[in-house]
Order: sequence, then structure tokens, then C-alpha cells
Amino acid sequence: MKFTSAILLLSPLLASALSFPSSSDRKVLDDQHKVPGSQPLTFCKDPADYILDVHNVDLIPNPPVPGEKLIIRGNGTFNQEIEDGASVYLQVKYGLITLIKQDADMCEQLPKIDIECPIKKGYMEIYKEVNIPRQVPPGKYTVLADVKTKDKEPITCMEAVVVFPR
Ligand SMILES: *[C@@H]1O[C@H](CO)[C@@H](O)[C@H](O)[C@H]1NC(C)=O
Repeated sequence: MKFTSAILLLSPLLASALSFPSSSDRKVLDDQHKVPGSQPLTFCKDPADYILDVHNVDLIPNPPVPGEKLIIRGNGTFNQEIEDGASVYLQVKYGLITLIKQDADMCEQLPKIDIECPIKKGYMEIYKEVNIPRQVPPGKYTVLADVKTKDKEPITCMEAVVVFPR
């Protein structure tokens, strides 16, 4: 599986991995670290220090339906401008097997969701439609995305643990 098939948090891959979330399957570290909105994401740690202040992220429908269209909608505020050189570390595990573990250039990925670097300081909305594969191998998926500036300052970091029922 190629990294380029996974766009930050908004990739079809992640969307697939987020299918069938249930509260008992989610790793809830702390309620205050839950990403606001209708999806199973949590921040990796207290998001107060992140450059991106996420207001809301919704998956429509939540949970996604295999073989159908999924809308990913979100908004947030960047507390500083994001320049070229920002990176995104993406890790996807299926059970104990690592499917993806890779650093990529964030600015090269963003055009896929109609955003360009530099990202101006201030409010931003995103909207993306993806198609969920009809067949998703059942099992436990762990997804982590850690986004940093070129100076390694944290922009955001989110994770989800989701189990696809057999
Ligand atoms: C962000 O999106 C949510 C849900 O659509 C909305 O309720 C909220 O007003 C938005 N925030 C801003 C600052 O526009």
C-alpha cells in the first residue's frame, strides 16, 4: 500500500479504517482528547499546544458504509502560517502488522484536498468525498497521523483504533 494513497487524515484508507466505529472498540485515552464531531478520532495528547485548533470533524454517514460514498467535513483555525517543509507521519496497523509507516511532505499531499501551501494563519474549512471499498478485511485497525512544521513544531496529531466486524 502506498503512502500517496493516504492523504493526511482524509484519505480513503483512513476513511475505510474508520468504518464501523463502536464506542467499545475505540481507544479512549481521555474524553477531553476526543476530536470534536462525529467520528472516532482522538488527539494523541492535549491539543492545547497544537498549531491547528480543530473545531469540528464529521464523517457523513458515521459509521461509513462499505461500497458507498463518504463525506468528510471539517473546520479549524491555524494559529500560525504553515510553510513548505511541513511533514506528516502516517502509521497504519492491521492487528500487529504495520501496513504503512512513513513520513511524507505534507504540502505535496494537500492539493488532493484542494489546499495549497503556504497555509495562511486563520480559519479554514475542508470538504472531501471518498468512496469506501465494498470489501474491507475484518480486524483491528490502528491509525496515527502526526503533522509537524519544518521546525518539528506540532501542527496536530490524531489517532483511532477501529475494529471491523467479521
Ligand atoms: C465548524 O463546523 C461546525 C459543524 O459544521 C459548526 O457548527 C461551527 O460553527 C463551525 N465553526 C466555525 C468557527 O465556523
